[in-house]
Amino acid sequence: MIIAIDGPAGSGKSTIAKLLAKKLNTEYIDSGAIYRTITLFGIQTFAEGCEGNESRIFELLKDNPETIKISYEDHTQIMWLNNENVSQKIRDPKVTVQVKYIADHQNCRELVNQSIRKTAEKYSVVIDGRDIGTIVFPKTPYKFYLDAKPVIRAERRAKEYSIPLDSPGFEQLVKSINTRDKEDKERKIAPLRKASDALLIDTSGLDIEGVLKEILPHIQPLKS
Ligand code: CDP
Repeated sequence: MIIAIDGPAGSGKSTIAKLLAKKLNTEYIDSGAIYRTITLFGIQTFAEGCEGNESRIFELLKDNPETIKISYEDHTQIMWLNNENVSQKIRDPKVTVQVKYIADHQNCRELVNQSIRKTAEKYSVVIDGRDIGTIVFPKTPYKFYLDAKPVIRAERRAKEYSIPLDSPGFEQLVKSINTRDKEDKERKIAPLRKASDALLIDTSGLDIEGVLKEILPHIQPLKS
């Protein structure tokens, strides 16, 4: 079983995907974390970072497939870079700013997609990302597209990072959400969009339980 959950930053994908994976006893694949780990590798390898070095980053990873490893423990995906657990490091804002260069590179995207498809051959999976229902698994019948108003998505991120809503930091967060939406939706390769057969869920007014209630009836029949 492959469950694809796509949507913009802060739409609640990862929270829901993790919970679903636990509930259905499947693995959880965070495709964004793989893009982030490739980005961190680029930042660590090239003084000038990922911009302009995308092809070299791809070649290095292709020739040294052990550089990035992924393990799955208790429905949690752990990212390893040169045998270091970088699951926290990849959340650094420096990575968030540069990930677009990797996400915009066809060969790097193929690298990520191959890794995801290999895992999905072995296990049932819930995968969150931007192009899972459109490009990576267009044939899966289980596709969900989560969305929410940008300001609400920024509020969620602010809560995660303990940023007060009346601070300049919050204004910055709203700007960054809008910039990332634009980058994700206007990208030439694998842009963020809802697959025509995905169920759209606006999570603006829903809590986690509310979102699960919308999703589960579409999946339950499969379990029996
Ligand atoms: O910050 P957030 O959790 O929303 O993003 P993420 O899921 O960690 O993904 C990081 C970045 O990787 C996103 O901004 C996307 O541009 C890119 N990405 C992608 O292009 N395709 C995917 N399937 C997943 C992520």
